[in-house]
Amino acid sequence: MKRTPISRICWLGLLLGLGSASLSAAQAPAAAPAVPLAGQSKDAFIDSLMQRMTLEEKIGQLRLVSVGPDHPKPVLLKEIAEGTTGAVFNTVVRPGIRDLQDAAMKSRLKIPLFFAYDVVHGHRTVFPIGLGLAASWDMASIERSARVAAIEASADGLNLTYSPTVDIARDPRWGRVSEGFGEDAWLTSKVAAAVVKGYQGQGLNQPQTIMAGVKHFALYGAGEGGRDYNTVDMSPQRMFQDYLPPYRAAIDAGAGAVMVSLNSINGVPATANKWLLQDLLRGQWGYKGLTLSDHGAVLELIKHGVAATERDATQAAINAGVEMNMNDDLYGKHMPELLKAGLISQDEIDRACRDVLAAKWDMGLFHDPYRYLQGKDPVDTDAEDRLHRADAREIARKGMVLLKNEGGVLPLKRDGVIALIGPLADSKRDVMGSWSAAGKAFQAVTVLEGMGAATRGHAALLYAKGANVTDDPEIVKYLNEYSEDVKVDSRSPKAMIDEAVEKAKQADVVVAVVGESQGMAHEASSKTNLHIAQSQIELLKALKATGKPLVLVLMNGRPMDLRWESANADAVLETWFSGTEGGNAIADVLFGDYNPSGKLTMTFPRSVGQVPIYYNHLNTGRPFDHEHPNKYTSRYFDSQNGPLYPFGFGLSYTDFSVSDVKMSGSKLKKGDQLTASVTVKNTGKVAGETTVQLYLRDVAASISRPVKELKGFSKILLQPGESKVVQFPIREEDLRFYDSQLRYASEPGEFKVYVGLDSDNVKEQSFTLL
Ligand code: BGC
Repeated sequence: MKRTPISRICWLGLLLGLGSASLSAAQAPAAAPAVPLAGQSKDAFIDSLMQRMTLEEKIGQLRLVSVGPDHPKPVLLKEIAEGTTGAVFNTVVRPGIRDLQDAAMKSRLKIPLFFAYDVVHGHRTVFPIGLGLAASWDMASIERSARVAAIEASADGLNLTYSPTVDIARDPRWGRVSEGFGEDAWLTSKVAAAVVKGYQGQGLNQPQTIMAGVKHFALYGAGEGGRDYNTVDMSPQRMFQDYLPPYRAAIDAGAGAVMVSLNSINGVPATANKWLLQDLLRGQWGYKGLTLSDHGAVLELIKHGVAATERDATQAAINAGVEMNMNDDLYGKHMPELLKAGLISQDEIDRACRDVLAAKWDMGLFHDPYRYLQGKDPVDTDAEDRLHRADAREIARKGMVLLKNEGGVLPLKRDGVIALIGPLADSKRDVMGSWSAAGKAFQAVTVLEGMGAATRGHAALLYAKGANVTDDPEIVKYLNEYSEDVKVDSRSPKAMIDEAVEKAKQADVVVAVVGESQGMAHEASSKTNLHIAQSQIELLKALKATGKPLVLVLMNGRPMDLRWESANADAVLETWFSGTEGGNAIADVLFGDYNPSGKLTMTFPRSVGQVPIYYNHLNTGRPFDHEHPNKYTSRYFDSQNGPLYPFGFGLSYTDFSVSDVKMSGSKLKKGDQLTASVTVKNTGKVAGETTVQLYLRDVAASISRPVKELKGFSKILLQPGESKVVQFPIREEDLRFYDSQLRYASEPGEFKVYVGLDSDNVKEQSFTLL
C-alpha cells in the first residue's frame, strides 16, 4: 500500500504553488498526495502541504473521533475519505486501523490518520495500576512497563497513548487516584519522565514507539471533595509547587501531546483557559507539541457556563489553544462560520493544523502511513505469544506493599492447609484493574490460579468466594451500567459466609482477598467513604472469629480506611490491581519467593474525615504534637491524629536499621554540594530491598514551607547482615521553591535533613544555606 515516488513527482509538477485554502475539499482540484520529497525538512513539507489544503481539510485535521453508536464506521469511513478527519481513537486492531487508513489514502491529499488509545498501564499485557507502579519506587521497572506497552501497542498499529496520567491527588475519594502516581510532585515527576521515555524510546522515529499524551492538564486531581470533574480552586503557589511539576516533567521528557483536563481552574475551564494553554504551556514552558481536548470537553463549556452556544464553545476552545477536539463535531460544524465572522483567525486554525501534521510527521506517518502495520497481521490478536508475562510478573510484585506482618505469619509455608477466601480471589476482570486497555481478562492470572500453581504438590488449597464484592444493588447497577463487570453470586450472604467459615476451620491459615472491584477505582467512581464494602467486612469478621491466622490481600485502587483490618488481621498485603500476572506475583510475595519492597506513594488516612491528608503539609502555627498532645492545636478530637500508614511506608520480610545521618559539611554555598549519608543494614534473616528516602525542610522562609519534602531516594538490595552506605547529594537547586511572587529561588537559612525508610520514621540533621 506504499505510495511510489513516481506518482508523487507527477502530482507535484502539476500542483506546485496551488493554494486552495478557501475551497471545500470536494470543490478543490485533485492534488498530489502528502508525501515528503527526499531530504525535505519537516517545516518545508508542512508549509507546502498547508498551502494545498482547503479550509475544510485543515479543520478536518482537528477532529479526533471514534467509531460508536452515534458515529458508525461507514459514516466515519466516508468522512475520512473526504479528508475531514485528523485522527481516530478506540480502534485497536490492525484490520480496523488498516480499513480507516485505507480510507484516508482515498482522500484528496492522502494525509494519513493517526490512531490513539488509552494505553494506561499496559496494553495487551497489563501491568499494575499507576499507584502500584509508583509504589515500586523503581524507575527502570516503570520505564520497562511503558516500553512493553509501546511495543505491544505499536504492533497493533497504534501511534499515540492518552498517558501518562500525572495528576497529583490528595483525596482518595477520587476514583482516578488509581491511575496516577500518588501525592508527591517530585516523585511523580520522576515517574512521568520514566513513562514518557518508555513509550517514546530513543525517539518516535524508532520502531516500536508510541507518542505519549500526558494528562490531564491541569490539576484534574484536585477537584473539590474528591468528586470527579469537580471545580478546582487553588493558590498559584500550591499549583506551581505541588501540582504542575509532573506535567512539566513529562513535557521536558519529550511527551508529544498534552490532553487538556475537564475541570475548571479558578473559574476558567481548562478547555477555555488561555493562560494555561498558551501563557504557561507554550510561553513559559516552551511546549511545541499537540494539545488534545478530553472527551467531549469542548461541548461541556456550555455546561461550565462559559459558553452560551456550541459556536461560543468552539470559539473559546480554539482561542484558548485546544488544537484537536475529541469526540464532538463542534470544530467541523462551527469553525468556518466563526472564521467568516472574524471571531477566530486563520492563524489559529493553521497553528493547530500544523501541530497535528507535525505530530504525524514525528510518528513517521507521512513517510509511510502503514509504518505501524508492517509485517503480517497476527492470526490471533490475543495470541499468548504477544504477551510479556515475565515483565508483568516481575514488575507487579515490586509494587506490592506489606502493611502489616505480625508474628511472621508471612511468608506462608508451602505445607498444611490454606483457605483462600474472598470475592476478589478468583476474579480475572478485577485483578487487571480499570483502564486495562486491550488486555483480556481471560489471560489474567487470579490469586486462586497463582496460589494453586505455587502450592501444587505441597499445601492443600481450599477456596470459597465468601461474599459478593458489595451487597448494595444500587452500587452493582452503577458499576455494571456499561458492561457486566461485577458478577453477583445469587446465594445469600449467610450461605456464602458459612461456606467460607467452614473452609477456614479446616485450614492452618486464612488468606482473604478483599477490597474494591476494579470499577470502583476508575473514572466516575468517587466515593464518600473509604471502607471496604460491608459484605466483605461481615465476611472478615466471621473469618476472624475462627481464630485462624488471617492474612489480608488487598486489591484496591485508592488509600482506604483500614482501621479495622489493620487491627484485626495478622498480615496485610496491599497489591493494588496488579495486572495480567497479578495472581502469580501475589503468590510470589505470599510464599516469600519475592520479598516485598513496595512503599506507599499516597498517605493512607485513618478515616475519610481526615482527607485531604498528605505528608508534605505546612506546619501551621499550632502544629499537633503526638508526644505532647495539646487541645488548642491543629487536630481532630474524635480520632487519633496522623495517618494510618504514612507516605513512603512499606515493610519487608527482613528488618533494616538506619544509622544516624552524616553530613559532609554544615554549610552549603550556591554551586556546591553537600552529601547526607546513612548506613543501612539488613538485620534480618533474608535478603531484601528497601527504599531509603531523603526529605528536606526549609525552616524559615518568606512563605511557609512543608514540614518535609521528598528530594531523594535510593532502592537498595541487601543480603542478611549486609550494610550499605547510601549517599544523597544536596544542592542549592534542590532548595528552590515558588515564593509569593512566583519567583523560583532558594532562600538562605537553616534546612533540616531527614532520612528514613518512610516519611514518618526518620533520622534528622541540618545545614545552613549561605
Ligand atoms: C478520560 C480520559 C480518556 C478519554 C478517552 C475521558 O473520559 O477523562 O482520561 O483518555 O476519556 O478514553
